[in-house]
Amino acid sequence: MSRQDKSRTDTNRRKMLGCMCALGVGLPVIAEAQDPAAMEAPKENDFLAYAYGDKAGQPVAVDDLAVAEKQVFAFAMDPASGLVKNGTRMNQVLLVRLDPATLSADTIARSVNGLVAYSGVCSHTGCDVTDWNSEFNRFQCPCHESQFDPSDSARVVGGPAPWQLAALPLKEVDGKVAVAAAFEGRLGFMQPGLSPFGI
Ligand code: FES
Repeated sequence: MSRQDKSRTDTNRRKMLGCMCALGVGLPVIAEAQDPAAMEAPKENDFLAYAYGDKAGQPVAVDDLAVAEKQVFAFAMDPASGLVKNGTRMNQVLLVRLDPATLSADTIARSVNGLVAYSGVCSHTGCDVTDWNSEFNRFQCPCHESQFDPSDSARVVGGPAPWQLAALPLKEVDGKVAVAAAFEGRLGFMQPGLSPFGI
């Protein structure tokens, strides 16, 4: 299988799992995470670690990502134990680096070195927000094409998503990307016809 085919397969797998969770099938996205501590929400001083790929589990450095490069998925990591908090997909975050000059005041206050982080779960019906619109530097959900502007608190700029993605404030610790505070905003998603999921 070519690298491109594998990447497409991985993306399709995450999309499918995201949709199945949204439908209430209840599949854990990260099946190997059994430790209850891995379900704890990101908190101040946690590092952010890559969620997938060759660097999975490694902390993200503040200068790892290029400006306006497609978002990467990450999970918080306990700095003392090294435990990656991947026990629930509600913990997964999107991490992208933008030109600081383009960030809104609220967004720059939560950023470090142009890096901003948001929940990776679409507020519409809960798919993973895997796509990137490189023309406008926006996150795009593959399920129903909602778009979110990461330079402005991930507000909804297209599609059916009912609210912006929850934001995770960042800071730098020893050259690594760390969490500055808990998620801000509404985490979770709305399933049409059902109760809201999340907090
Ligand atoms: S789940 Fe993202 S747009 Fe519908």
